[in-house]
Amino acid sequence: MKCVDDFRLRLGQHELVPIMVGGMGVDISTAELSLEAARLGGVGHISDAMVPTVSDRRFKTKYVKDKLRQYKFNVANSDKSVVQFNMGLLAEATTRHVASTMEAKRGPGLIFINCMEKLTMNAPKETLRVRLRAAMDAGIDGITLAAGLHLGSFALIEDHPRFRDVKLGIIVSSLRALQLFLKKSARTGRLPDYVVVEGPLAGGHLGFGMDWAEYDLATITAEIQAWLKTEQLDIPLIPAGGIFTGTDAVNFLEAGAAAVQVATRFTVTHECGLPEDVQQHYFTSDEDDIEVNQISPTGYPMRMLKSSPAIGDGIRPNCEAYGYLLDAKGNCQYIDAYNREVALHPDAKRIKVMDKTCLCTHMRNFDCWTCGHYTYRLKDTTRQGDDGRYQILTAEHVFKDYQFSKDNTIALP
Ligand SMILES: Cc1cc2nc3c(=O)[nH]c(=O)nc-3n(C[C@H](O)[C@H](O)[C@H](O)COP(=O)(O)O)c2cc1C
Repeated sequence: MKCVDDFRLRLGQHELVPIMVGGMGVDISTAELSLEAARLGGVGHISDAMVPTVSDRRFKTKYVKDKLRQYKFNVANSDKSVVQFNMGLLAEATTRHVASTMEAKRGPGLIFINCMEKLTMNAPKETLRVRLRAAMDAGIDGITLAAGLHLGSFALIEDHPRFRDVKLGIIVSSLRALQLFLKKSARTGRLPDYVVVEGPLAGGHLGFGMDWAEYDLATITAEIQAWLKTEQLDIPLIPAGGIFTGTDAVNFLEAGAAAVQVATRFTVTHECGLPEDVQQHYFTSDEDDIEVNQISPTGYPMRMLKSSPAIGDGIRPNCEAYGYLLDAKGNCQYIDAYNREVALHPDAKRIKVMDKTCLCTHMRNFDCWTCGHYTYRLKDTTRQGDDGRYQILTAEHVFKDYQFSKDNTIALP
């Protein structure tokens, strides 16, 4: 019986342990977590979600405070179109986050950044261009294009000197999404270096509708693999979503996957950005405590714990401080939902908004407990203390368990 360590992921001249720790937005996949994955010979991800906000926490910068001061006059206004990001400051924040991570990198692995197209920031193309290019300038090893079709993303960076040197990948949830991406990017004369195939059991936003349960990762991966073969395209495929044990990973590797992308098992590690009290909620959850809902203003379904404080919270939209999900016209679905409830309950001190959430605020505060489908199995990956609390793991422990375990076993700490 094989283990993950019997396989290698080849990306250019790199030979890696075929384990990619997926990007987890707003600093759940921290620099520390990505650095551990790289030190151990795999691929780690930082995320470019709300980087100015993350920078404030990490480096004591004042991007959020300064932006709020600039746009304070607009806080009570429901029209948020004036709230713009300063491109110079956005580049600066991204550069600092990426460069400091890359400087700390040790070991043979790689560090990529997860770049979400749905982070439209009131100027989708311009802000995406700045984020991609700043990450390349700051020495990132690779970029995983996420949360969107990214039909124009290669074009935004094709004239960058590192366009052919940085590893570029895309996350898709269907063959059709991949076909569209390849068609639209063909003009740049560059194929992606890898494709992450994300199935319906993943955490974060899903690339499926509310009928997600009708889809299956192995089937989608096999379909994409067969199509690539007929097109004679040699692009490494990296399935993701619900790969919980080393044996699950081996099954995909034996079927031809180049690596696996995993995340949920790392949410309960010291290096993960989630506060420990939140991690305990992940441990104690049962299958019934997890849902896929539509409260994300991005329009994508999202999986999370039903006990997330973000659900139903009616906080005033914080776009002057954050505003990462404002679309090209300065709208966000949460603003509409909030205004509707305020109009319906003019005298209420606190309102509830059930159908959407202020995702910027709640992801920033770790109050939207997004998670993978198998979160309810995390309790089986550690020990419980006499006080009832579960032992937080090290990223190294989880990584090595994926790398070396056999027979569906999970090593306890
Ligand atoms: C807490 C959490 C946050 C996530 N955030 C993001 C994100 O910001 N961008 C993204 O592309 N994927 C995100 N994901 C998806 C993961 O990167 C990964 O592809 C997926 O969760 C793998 O499945 P697994 O969690 O079952 O191992 C997130 C997953 C989790 C668990």
